[in-house]
Amino acid sequence: MKQFVVLLVALLSLTARADEGMWVMGNISEKTDSVLRSLGLELTPEELYSTEQPSLNDAIVQLGGFCSGVVVSNDGLMFTNHHCGFGSIQNHSTTKHDYLKYGFVAKSFADELPNDGLFVLFHLKTVDVTNLILGAVPADATDWERDSVINAVSDQLMRMVDYSAKGIQSEVNPFYKRSKYFLSVYQRFDDVRLVYAPPQCLGKYGGDTDNWMWPRQTCDFSVFRIYADKDNNPAEYSKDNVPYHPRKYAHVSTQGYHDGSYAMTLGYPGSTDRYLSSYGIESTMRTINDVRYQVRGVKLGILNEAMRQSDRLRIMYASKHASCSNYWKFSLGQNTALDNLNVIGEKQQQERELAAWVQTDPVGRARYIGVLDSLQAIYQQERDMLYTHTLWMESFYNGSDIFSFVLKSLNGPVGDLQERIARTYRDIDIDTDKKVFLALLQNYISHVPSEQYLPKNTMQMVDSVWNGDYQRFVDALYDTSVLAHPDALKAVTELSELQDDPMFSVALDVLMSLYSMSSTPRREAIYEQLLGDGIREMNHDHEYYPDANFTMRLSYGLCKPIDFAPGTIGLKEEATSMITSPRSFLNKHEQNPSNLDFQLIPQVYKWMKRGKFSKQYMDAQTGQLPLCFLTTNDITGGNSGSGIFDGKGRLIGLAFDGNWEAMSGDLKFDTALQRCIGVDIRWVLSVIDDYSHAKRLIKELTIE
Ligand code: ARG
Repeated sequence: MKQFVVLLVALLSLTARADEGMWVMGNISEKTDSVLRSLGLELTPEELYSTEQPSLNDAIVQLGGFCSGVVVSNDGLMFTNHHCGFGSIQNHSTTKHDYLKYGFVAKSFADELPNDGLFVLFHLKTVDVTNLILGAVPADATDWERDSVINAVSDQLMRMVDYSAKGIQSEVNPFYKRSKYFLSVYQRFDDVRLVYAPPQCLGKYGGDTDNWMWPRQTCDFSVFRIYADKDNNPAEYSKDNVPYHPRKYAHVSTQGYHDGSYAMTLGYPGSTDRYLSSYGIESTMRTINDVRYQVRGVKLGILNEAMRQSDRLRIMYASKHASCSNYWKFSLGQNTALDNLNVIGEKQQQERELAAWVQTDPVGRARYIGVLDSLQAIYQQERDMLYTHTLWMESFYNGSDIFSFVLKSLNGPVGDLQERIARTYRDIDIDTDKKVFLALLQNYISHVPSEQYLPKNTMQMVDSVWNGDYQRFVDALYDTSVLAHPDALKAVTELSELQDDPMFSVALDVLMSLYSMSSTPRREAIYEQLLGDGIREMNHDHEYYPDANFTMRLSYGLCKPIDFAPGTIGLKEEATSMITSPRSFLNKHEQNPSNLDFQLIPQVYKWMKRGKFSKQYMDAQTGQLPLCFLTTNDITGGNSGSGIFDGKGRLIGLAFDGNWEAMSGDLKFDTALQRCIGVDIRWVLSVIDDYSHAKRLIKELTIE
C-alpha cells in the first residue's frame, strides 16, 4: 500500500507546478520574477525590494535570532507568532498575572512590556560578493588556507559597510554550500515590547497533539512594538523611547483568498539541506533524529509530570517544554516522511544519474569522480561519533539546566556572572532539574555506542562510593553542590571559586568525551559541496535556489489544499480542505475532553461557541470566520511569524507551521504534499477586536 501511495504521489508531482524555493531578497532573477508575475504578483520588483525607495522588504523583521515578524503600523506595531513570543509572554507571567493562560492586552503605550535581550533586525540590503571572495582564494589553496582567505576578505568587506547610522550590522554568508557569498546589511533595534498575546488555548491550541499537523485551528500570533529614541534611531530600552516609525509597514487585507490565488511569504528561514546526499540523509535519520527523539522523550516525561503539579511549575517550564517538544516531534515526523516518500531512493537515483554523467566525460568532470564513494565511506566512519555528538548535546548541553550552565561556564566566555546566574536560575526548579539530570545521565551511559565516550571517572566514583546507585549519587551531588543552592550562589563573584565544586568535576569529566569527538575532524562537508556542484552543473539549465541560512527570503506559491493521493486511507474530511472553521475548532475540544491540548478557558469557549464575530472578518465565500489555511509556500523553522501576502502585497496571514505528510521538507521539497500552514489575518483581527476589544490596536492598522 505504501508503495502504491508513493507511486501515485510521484505521478501527481509531475503535473503539479513546483513552488519550491527560498529566493534571496535582492537577488531575484528575471526568470524567477516572471514566474511570480505569472502566478499573480502585481508588485513591481522595486515595490518588493529596493535600496532606494520604501519597499515591502522594509516591513519584514528578523526577530530575536529565531523567528520572523511583520510591521503593520506606522507606530512600529509588529505581528509574529504566539510561539515566537512565547518566551516573552512566559517571562512576564506569574501565578497572579498568568498571561500564558489568559492572554495579555496592553491598554496603552505605557502598559507595553519591555523584553530584555529581545531584538529585531531590518534588512537593508544584500549584495553578491562571490567574485571578490572566491577570486581571492588561490587555485592550489588547502582547505585551511581557503577558509582563512574567505574570512579575511569577508572581514574586509564588512569593514567597508557604512556604519554611520545607529544599529547597523553586517554579515557575509555562504550560499550553495559555500559556492557563493552574499553580504547582508541590517539595522538592529533592541527595545521591543510585548503588546498583546491571546490566551494560550487560542495561541497554542492543539499543543503537541496538533503541532506539525494539518488540519489546524491554532491562533498562533502575538503582537509586539518596536521602540526607538526621539530621533527614530535604535536605542537600548529607556522609558523615554517612543514608537518607531518604519520606512514601510504592511497593509492588511480582509478580502481573503481562494484556491489558486497568489501567496507569498517574506521572512527568515533558518536551515535546510536540500542538496544533501543519500548518505547524508541516512546519517541525519540515524545519528540525529532517532537520538533526539529518544532523549527528548525521556526529558519531556519528567517536565510533563512537573508541570502538572502546580501552576508555578507549569509557568516556569512552559517555554522550555515547548522548545524541547517542538523538535522532538519534528524528529519523528521527519524520519516518518523520509521513509514514506522514499527520499533516499530518489536521491540515490539522482546520484546514479550523476555518476553516469561523469562517465560521459571523465576528464572534464574528473573532480566529481569518487565523490559518492568518499561520502559513503566517511559517513560510515563518522557514524558513532555523530551519533554520540547528538546524544551528548541532548543529554548534557540541552539537558539539566544547572548542568548545562556549568558546561557553558567551562566552555565559553562568561560575561557578568551574577547576571547570567539570575537569568538561568529564574526558571529552575531544583528538584525537577535533578530528575532530568539523573535520567539523562543514565540514559547517556546506556546508549553510548563506544566506551571512549563514557564519563569514566564519574562512573568509577559511583561504583566505588555509591555502590553503583546513581540515584544516591545524584542526590548527594545536588545536596553538596553550590550550583544546586541558588541562595549560596548569590555570594559567588568569580567562577574560579567554584572549581572544587563537585558539579564542576562531573562536568569536566563529561566534557572530556566531547573533546575527543570535536578533535576528530569531520570530512563530509567538502564532498557534499562537490556533489551539489556536480548536480547543478549536470542540470545547468535549471535555476537552483540556495539552502536556507537565516537570511531574508521570499517564497512564492498559491493558496491550495494538499494533493493527497486518491485513496489515501484514514483522512479526516477537513484535511482535504484548504481552510478551517470555528466548527472544527469546537469539535476538537468537544471530542477530546481529557486532552489538555484542547482545553479551553471558559471565556474562550463561550466566545467561540457563541460565534458572534464582526462581519468584516467573515469570509465572503464560506460565510464563516476563517481560522487557518494552507499555501504551497516553501518555508521552514525561522520562517515562523513570516507575513503571508497576496498578489497586491497585502497581509493575509502569518505562517506558523508545516505539515506532517511532508516533514522531510527540509531535506527534500515535495510538491504534492508540502504546505505552509498559516493563521488567517481575519482570525487574528477578530481575536484582538471581538474577543479582547483591543480597539486601539485595530485602529493603528491599515485594513483594506
Ligand atoms: N512547529 C512550529 C514551528 O516550528 C511551532 C509550533 C509551536 N506549537 C507547539 N505546539 N509547540 O514553527
